[in-house]
Amino acid sequence: MGRLEKLPPYLFSAIDAAKAEARAAGVAVVDLGVGDPDRPTPQALLEVMCEAVRKPANHCYPAQKGDALLKQAIAGWLARRHGVKVDAVSQVLVLIGSKEGLGHLPLAYVEEGDNALVPDLGYPVYGQATILAGGQPRLFALRAENGFRPDLAELERLMDDRTRLLFVNYPNNPTGATGDADFWRELIALCGRRGVVLVNDAAYLEVTLDGSRPLSMLKLADPAADQVLELHSLSKMFNMTGWRIAFAAGHPEVVGRLGRVKESMDSGVFTAVQETAVHALGESFAELLAGVVEAYPERRRIMVAALADAGIEVFPTTATFYVWCRVPGKESAVDFCGRALREVGLVVTPGNGFGPGGEGWFRISLTASDADIAEGARRIRSWR
Ligand SMILES: Cc1ncc(COP(=O)(O)O)c(C=O)c1O
Repeated sequence: MGRLEKLPPYLFSAIDAAKAEARAAGVAVVDLGVGDPDRPTPQALLEVMCEAVRKPANHCYPAQKGDALLKQAIAGWLARRHGVKVDAVSQVLVLIGSKEGLGHLPLAYVEEGDNALVPDLGYPVYGQATILAGGQPRLFALRAENGFRPDLAELERLMDDRTRLLFVNYPNNPTGATGDADFWRELIALCGRRGVVLVNDAAYLEVTLDGSRPLSMLKLADPAADQVLELHSLSKMFNMTGWRIAFAAGHPEVVGRLGRVKESMDSGVFTAVQETAVHALGESFAELLAGVVEAYPERRRIMVAALADAGIEVFPTTATFYVWCRVPGKESAVDFCGRALREVGLVVTPGNGFGPGGEGWFRISLTASDADIAEGARRIRSWR
């Protein structure tokens, strides 16, 4: 079977089709499905971008692996914000969104017959990119009773001498689960012992709902010695999903190998966008971030209250802008979400869109307008 044929079907296409059909039939759909922030990029960043766009020097090919100024800003941000020390030249790589980095990483490690451990449930790119590189994704479970963290004994059982990468994603999409210091220490030690590169997709690291400072995996590792890579993204941090800017930091060899793949694949991020990112990660970082994440605590409170009234169990968290909910009764996740669309015009995502382990769960995204969140909450109460 060819690589493309090995890719699993994309459940979200079916959801998009059902949504379009409902809209065409005149249903006033409330879409709490996609995790794409409804609010604009902060004004201050728009202004930096407008200036940067006007500079002719920015219209040429960008520094392919990241502008030196941005790489320094990233290293400075990691030090100030997360207490992590990395060398800006050899341990930082600018990405065209974290999806791009995740998509290319297996090409740097996975040969035919190799495998990568990927979470069930998780962002589909880890497994798909492994398949496209010619390797085999091996799913490990994230179970509710473990707080949606992997079972280390299971991970060790799944590893063999062809295991190259272990993908994790904390704070986690779709569950909102987080990692703590002990968890990271154990995972780093396991991967070190087995010679597996540990990759944390930290796209949601800064989306915290209680003002707490999140924990970077790199803080628990020694990124100059441990084979680790963490991917950060400005997409959710600053409502910049359309801008395509993210970065990876970690061990110089891992960063270097991903950089080698990218040399053949892309020509870097528009320099004006990189200049804006320098500003975003600079002195006004905390203020800018606060203005973005302030939207979510109240939205979550409203939604969780409605779900409680409807008798729907929610996984408790203060991380990410997702609410991870248990499907009530015995209905499958797809049936339940299909019925939500047909009966009350509400789009929510069936948990098995993130892997078979998501059966019995569904995800609500808090990235819709306040009015839609209120209306969605009203429909949930009135429905059940
Ligand atoms: C877990 C996870 N990782 C990565 C991404 C991709 O983010 P980016 O916009 O940085 O490519 C997403 C986007 O939804 C995501 O949910």
